[in-house]
Amino acid sequence: MTQLLWQKPGVKVDERIQRFLAGEDVILDREFFLFDIEASRAHAEGLQQIGILTGEELDGIKRELSVLAEDFRAGRFVLDEQFEDGHSAIEARLIERLGDTGRRIHTGRSRNDQVLVATRLWLKDRLARVAALCRESAEVALARATAEASLPIPGYTHLQRAMVSSGGMWWAAWAEGFIDDAVRARDTLAWVDANPLGSAAGYGVNLPLARDHTTQALGFGRMQVAATYAQLSRGKFEMGAIDALGAALLDVRRLAWDLSLFTSAEFGFVALPAEYTTGSSIMPNKRNPDVVELMRASYSAVAAARTEIEQLLSLPSGYHRDLQFSKGAIFHAFGRGLGALELLPDLLRNLEWRPERMRAALDPSMYATDLAVDLARQGMPFRDAYKQAADPARWAEGDPEASLASRVSPGAAGDLRLDVLQRRLDALQ
Ligand code: ARG
Repeated sequence: MTQLLWQKPGVKVDERIQRFLAGEDVILDREFFLFDIEASRAHAEGLQQIGILTGEELDGIKRELSVLAEDFRAGRFVLDEQFEDGHSAIEARLIERLGDTGRRIHTGRSRNDQVLVATRLWLKDRLARVAALCRESAEVALARATAEASLPIPGYTHLQRAMVSSGGMWWAAWAEGFIDDAVRARDTLAWVDANPLGSAAGYGVNLPLARDHTTQALGFGRMQVAATYAQLSRGKFEMGAIDALGAALLDVRRLAWDLSLFTSAEFGFVALPAEYTTGSSIMPNKRNPDVVELMRASYSAVAAARTEIEQLLSLPSGYHRDLQFSKGAIFHAFGRGLGALELLPDLLRNLEWRPERMRAALDPSMYATDLAVDLARQGMPFRDAYKQAADPARWAEGDPEASLASRVSPGAAGDLRLDVLQRRLDALQ
């Protein structure tokens, strides 16, 4: 390992302890590295503005940071165990290339605010992706709700046949769900859009740091003002972001459940695109919906990450090394979550209905509710109408299209109000 930044003379470094302290940190910091470099650039600009760096020194630092970013992207610079973490690696590189100028970069900054700002930029990037993918999924669902508005689909409660539903209603449900999820991700992004850089170790520094500049240069919506709160928000903001991701993944989980049921031979309502299915290593007859199942399972990583961070946050104020473990949690949760969301729009675009199978699954009982409400509309008290309609002798083969057309309560098949959803979706662009 390169010389530790905080090495004290006379204290020997124990390898096992170093390994425990660093853990997988240096590997995880690869995720955040480019953001750390970007924040280092903004910090250096700020230092030049308050006279700590000359213009020439700033130019050198900016140049070397760009080269480092390029080398990292191209794989010429590898962030590995020779460094304690990504932060030390940036400083070591600047010192190696620029000598004393590099030794000035850490003026007025701590790794505590450095890791905060890099993570914050990473979270913003991932939340923007969540919002975009939810929006795209909602778009597909809404288009199919329009196209398949009058396609009869059996509607279930308790997994028992309940009422006639429609393509319009099934798709509109996911459209509105993913619009909500996109709004949630966007609002959460705005909530975490606060710059912690310049809070230093959590207690500020005796320099008039150019925090307004770094806030604006890094594209933050606001400065996270209270230096000590910046540390309190570590983990808390991560949990907010995970919750936003989780809302989307919960919808994905239920949607995946529908598809895994609907593709079974027992239902046979849906055919998945061939590339979304896999074969069995032993049973030559199988086409399995593995993709849909892994999409369904992805929420577990999100829930686990939330729990992991929540457990870490049992701390008094100020920085604590415990918080280092929050990085692996968000990385894992967003990796799994975005992996599932990325496949969703195409899956929705390409799944095919089997209309004849769905029609065959509509039985006379599924019109009983329509009948009860019809009788009530004609003046019979609903409780009496309900009793009459419960009598199987009154059930007959129904007309699914007519049932759907008559379902005029707003949001039901006869009055889907997709225009309202479309306006909410358009407002997200
Ligand atoms: N790897 C550390 C983390 O993620 C960086 C901050 C280290 N700060 C400290 N005071 N030891 O929290």
